[in-house]
Amino acid sequence: MTDLLTLQKQFILSHLKAGDVCADFTMGNGHDTCFLSKTVGETGKVYAFDIQKGALTSTAAFLEKENCPKNYTLIHDSHHNAKNYIGEKIKAGMFNLGYLPGSGNKELTTKRETTLPAVTSAIEMLDCDGILLVAVYPGHPEGYEEGVMLENYFSTLSRFEMSISKFQIVNSPTSPYFFIVEKK
Ligand SMILES: C[S@@+](CC[C@H](N)C(=O)[O-])C[C@H]1O[C@@H](n2cnc3c(N)ncnc32)[C@H](O)[C@@H]1O
Repeated sequence: MTDLLTLQKQFILSHLKAGDVCADFTMGNGHDTCFLSKTVGETGKVYAFDIQKGALTSTAAFLEKENCPKNYTLIHDSHHNAKNYIGEKIKAGMFNLGYLPGSGNKELTTKRETTLPAVTSAIEMLDCDGILLVAVYPGHPEGYEEGVMLENYFSTLSRFEMSISKFQIVNSPTSPYFFIVEKK
């Protein structure tokens, strides 16, 4: 069976290497931050964002437990403000939209009004040959609408500047799917 999580990582790994700068725009419990941190290593840099203080606490503990290199900055702010913290180009960015798994508070989900400016500014920050991954969870109403909004937006962007693809299990329409944006 196709494992979309493994596939996501393969795409990131084909663009990101030791020493690169990258961002996790939805830190959550830190699994993606950990993956990025280990991929870019001691000489790289990872910026990670979340609006929930609890996400920063659990991510810090998880990164310690996993012996990640101390190459990360955990930022308690919305991802649409990322340019206030990242003053350089990034080689990779990850958005895993939705709510914090296990938090019980589904109100603190990502929302269209901040997701769109966040994704737009992440694309502006992407370096040449950089990659942005955006995972969508259409099984809840806001997640479904985020996916529709993003697809409409992505379809307006120039194919001469970037390539944008969508990976979805077509016979399971409520399962998560993802977009990848690759800057030329
Ligand atoms: C599906 S979880 C991310 C999972 C995470 N990448 C992991 O590896 O555990 C989505 C996260 O996005 C966060 N979030 C919601 N709105 C946000 C915003 N405007 N800026 C940054 N993070 C936000 C939520 O608090 C939640 O922790």
